[in-house]
Amino acid sequence: MNIMDAHESANVSARDGFSLGEPLSLMGVCLDPESLSDVKQFAASMPLVRLLAPVTQFVAEDDDSLQGWIPGSPPEVCLIDFDANRRSATLTAEKIHANLPGTAIFAVSSNSQPSLIIEAMRCGCSEYLVKPLNHDQLLEAVARVDGRRKERKEVSNGQVLAFVGAKGGSGVTTMATHLGALLAKSYARRTLLVDLHPTFGEAAFYLGITKHKYSFYELVENKDRLDANLLRGFLLRHSSGLEVLPAPDSVEPSRQLAENDIGHTIDFLRSRYDFVVVDCPPGLSKPNLEVIARCDWLYLVLVPEVSAVANGVRCLDYLTRAEYPLDRVKVVLNRHLKRGIGITDDQIEKALRRQIYWKVPNQYNQVIRTIHGGDPSSQITESEVARTMLAWAETLGKQPDSPGDAKKGSKRLFGRLGR
Ligand SMILES: Nc1ncnc2c1ncn2[C@@H]1O[C@H](COP(=O)(O)OP(=O)(O)OP(=O)(O)O)[C@@H](O)[C@H]1O
Ligand SMILES: [Mg+2]
Repeated sequence: MNIMDAHESANVSARDGFSLGEPLSLMGVCLDPESLSDVKQFAASMPLVRLLAPVTQFVAEDDDSLQGWIPGSPPEVCLIDFDANRRSATLTAEKIHANLPGTAIFAVSSNSQPSLIIEAMRCGCSEYLVKPLNHDQLLEAVARVDGRRKERKEVSNGQVLAFVGAKGGSGVTTMATHLGALLAKSYARRTLLVDLHPTFGEAAFYLGITKHKYSFYELVENKDRLDANLLRGFLLRHSSGLEVLPAPDSVEPSRQLAENDIGHTIDFLRSRYDFVVVDCPPGLSKPNLEVIARCDWLYLVLVPEVSAVANGVRCLDYLTRAEYPLDRVKVVLNRHLKRGIGITDDQIEKALRRQIYWKVPNQYNQVIRTIHGGDPSSQITESEVARTMLAWAETLGKQPDSPGDAKKGSKRLFGRLGR
């Protein structure tokens, strides 16, 4: 996707979001005299912007730690002049990007060719400011940095709920969509459903969403620019209030994501929601393990069949060997029959050496009707499956309010900044 489009389209106006509570530090790097003077004037007119002494040298090629290059603690914004020496400016931006995660980089240049802008974005610049610098342009850019700073402070620490089937077709998507929609609708919790399937993901489809442009995959691929504004451009919203990051629409078989990037993205999402429900493909693939490693609850979904139980035993054995905290794992039995025709609940618990946490009844007609309707949260009266899932959602949704609610007290200080 065109990352800049998504970024810009989703961006709220700087004027809505500028809310500095403490000074934001700016530092010029090799700025030409005129631009430096513009930045000085800007800083002088903004009581909550602190201008640090300018740096007149780029980072040396062999200086990987940046020690000695910037005296003291790193600034929150570096404005780098890209005109005098583009190569050194690029290298400097790359090194700042790699070593100083809390520092935003603004490219400053008199050349606004799209290829140069893209090049600057690729080396880690979040803004491209065209000379001559003016007050509004600087204000908007700085406000975006402040917005991200504010987001970082106001993060909640939501729960990640990973659903993994012991085998394909166990009911993972059915449960994840029910639980997600019910947490959002019945308990008004900020809930996101992530479909981790690389292909043939069905979560959006089960919620009646048949068309979408972007997926969780594209979000992860753009993880370097991940912030609330970018995320907003990727989200689908279901009528229950549940937000959804679907699987890719394509069937490209070779598509892969770096596991680290998946983990980083899940951590970010956790900071934005009360619950992040992840619909994982069956088994213990590397992407699944990345989610499992950081989830609060791993729901291992089985059906009462010998092969599913055997796979369940294998999964638990693997997690035990990997010293995974097994108290986070909950076994869920889907398609449960009160009078089973095959393997009994006791036999399942004995084989797994743990208790079944939740039983979801075998009600094919109800589930199919819900999928056709596209809204599990509207099926409480009609569907025993939905009622069972509601009782489960209650155990999670009725918990005391999350730290995210501290947001209510946040101040909007735009007025204090002289606008
Ligand atoms: N409790 C249930 N009772 C009866 N049928 C069910 C139940 N839960 C799911 N099903 C049916 O089982 C099938 C598979 O369900 P679902 O797609 O949720 O499984 P899955 O684990 O997500 O599959 P996949 O591995 O393909 O992602 C669907 O046809 C669904 O309607
Ligand atoms: Mg599925």
